[in-house]
Amino acid sequence: MSRSAHPAGPRHADVFTEGHYSAPAADLNVLDEKVWARTVTRDADGALTVGGIGVARLAEEFGTPAYFLDESDFRARCRAWSDAFGPDADVFYAGKAFLSRAVVRWLQEEGLHLDVCSGGELTTALDAGMPAERIAFHGNNKTAAEIERAVEAGVGRIVLDSFQEIVRVAHIARSHRVRQRVQIRVTVGVEAHTHEFIATAHEDQKFGIALADGQAAEAVRRTLALDSLELIGIHSHIGSQIFDMAGFEVSARRVVQLLAEVRDEHGVELPEIDLGGGLGIAYTSEDDPREPHEIAKALSDIVTRECESAGLRTPRISVEPGRAIVGPTAFTLYEVGTIKPLEGLRTYVSVDGGMSDNIRTALYDAEYSVALVSRTSDAEPMLVRVVGKHCESGDIVVKDAFLPADLAPGDLIAVPATGAYCRSMASNYNHALRPPVVAVRDGEARVIVRRETEEDLLRLDVG
Ligand code: LLP
Repeated sequence: MSRSAHPAGPRHADVFTEGHYSAPAADLNVLDEKVWARTVTRDADGALTVGGIGVARLAEEFGTPAYFLDESDFRARCRAWSDAFGPDADVFYAGKAFLSRAVVRWLQEEGLHLDVCSGGELTTALDAGMPAERIAFHGNNKTAAEIERAVEAGVGRIVLDSFQEIVRVAHIARSHRVRQRVQIRVTVGVEAHTHEFIATAHEDQKFGIALADGQAAEAVRRTLALDSLELIGIHSHIGSQIFDMAGFEVSARRVVQLLAEVRDEHGVELPEIDLGGGLGIAYTSEDDPREPHEIAKALSDIVTRECESAGLRTPRISVEPGRAIVGPTAFTLYEVGTIKPLEGLRTYVSVDGGMSDNIRTALYDAEYSVALVSRTSDAEPMLVRVVGKHCESGDIVVKDAFLPADLAPGDLIAVPATGAYCRSMASNYNHALRPPVVAVRDGEARVIVRRETEEDLLRLDVG
């Protein structure tokens, strides 16, 4: 996938590259720190350890497949984001990437805010004690019941996504005698070069209200006219797994232009802008993600500059990284089962999970890395496709990668950078049992989301 961004218009075809694999790494035993969680290393015997615990012990205690999440890495990334943006900005972790009650507690301890996009995420956040005023509630089709819960709980902001929703939220807030703080989500007309399904700021899609044709200005007009809504700012999220800052800069500039228009028309300076999430992470050694401090500097420079030239006070900025915080912190551990060499093609390595624990490869053509982690090997590299155990040929976890040719059933292999959108998008396809998430820190491992059991399956099936 190419990862540039430009104003909406030109098609994606010119920027997507053909599926390809690069040459094998010089040494397959080396774990590239770009794609692995920070405490991951190999021990003296060559087995991978995370948080000081070896994979053999983890597999024995928690089984496979399983996601292992490096808690200190997660916390460090939270701190890096909030330090980078400083006290005049707010970092909202996007819970859709991965949410659990333990995660909510870590976020609180590290001083972050939380973006939720469903009643289920809201319940998880509130249950784990996240103060409601630190929660932003998102979604293109929030139900009346969800809006009601969010208003009752006192969430810090509801992000309005349509003209109809302005009226719905206003009505519910009024009936609760609340003045609800809201932002308006606008689509700024930037086409981010990521997979079509995860690009969100071009105009032909379901999210937000277009800046074009004065629609966003009209949404501001209607919102300001409603007593039960307090418009605190404008929101823009341009897409996900984006590397190029250009799209964010265009987005920031256009949002500031709207603030200036609002000031000119209504005499009101909206105090906040939210520039969404979407920063890319390294899934393979070829990816080169930006660090939070680079992102913070680029965004705040552009907002400050644009505001100065428009004569506006600089608004408080918020951002909503999900993948960039949790993505790199986890890997999925699998046990190798059947190995099927296809002469002249590649070797298919089947693992005990698959598209039920990582749908991203099938859904977005996502690229991943993989390594043999229960031992090292000096065998020659072999070209493999890591596939799951589901009844479908698109059940691919890693499309093209190299593993040592002496790989054998029973070996443990791991796929890094699976912290975001893997457990949260996991399914029960073929009645698979969704794997656990195990947090590892300083020599201790604890389950934060347990493995699904066959009893869980039968409990939902009422017979
Ligand atoms: N804010 C809003 C309003 C969003 O819609 C999203 C993601 C985020 C923040 C967080 O974006 P992140 O920093 O995680 O890229 N399932 C897809 C990604 C969908 C993203 C949806 N919205 C994937 O696996 O790539």
